Amino acid sequence: MEIRQIKEEYPLELLLLADPSEKFIKQYLERGECYIGEVDGEIVGVFVLLPTRPETVELVNIAVIEQHQGKGFGKALVMNAVNKAKEQGYNVMEVGTGNSSIDQLALYQKCGFRIIGVDIDFFSGRYNEEIIENGILCVDKIRLAQIL
Ligand code: COA
Repeated sequence: MEIRQIKEEYPLELLLLADPSEKFIKQYLERGECYIGEVDGEIVGVFVLLPTRPETVELVNIAVIEQHQGKGFGKALVMNAVNKAKEQGYNVMEVGTGNSSIDQLALYQKCGFRIIGVDIDFFSGRYNEEIIENGILCVDKIRLAQIL
């Protein structure tokens, strides 16, 4: 997989897999860096890095197209994001996910992130529709971080 930064023609459909709000996506694309992963010229994944505080960067969106999920691309993208942030001199990388996102919680912990907190009710009423995954209503944001 080839990973490169893009500054236009963002893969919106792919970004919407990780965040159902076009409004929020637009907001963080303005302030963050968007990277795509390609295989044979086809976009298979995306991630966005957003500087939040001095020396801290947040992975705010990561997604792999459905037909290529479960093949290791997600993990490769997360590890690439971590390495990029290190190279850019950040000291901490953060990521957040829903309490119902069991697979994502597994992925991030396998990539070195530790749970550092919970934003209670962060997702309650944030989107127009309820999000249910693994039979669990998404209401809280689990915050994870790793020292780079
Ligand atoms: N329990 C244990 N491990 C699990 C797991 C579970 N329930 N679900 C996934 N994993 C592990 C995999 O086994 C793999 O680890 P391994 O290599 O040690 O086996 C790792 O997590 C990731 O697998 P990978 O194939 O790299 O993930 P992916 O390419 O499917 O990408 C997402 C992961 C989340 C990016 C992808 O599924 C996606 O785009 N989902 C929709 C968008 C989204 O939810 N984005 C995140 C928002 S917080």
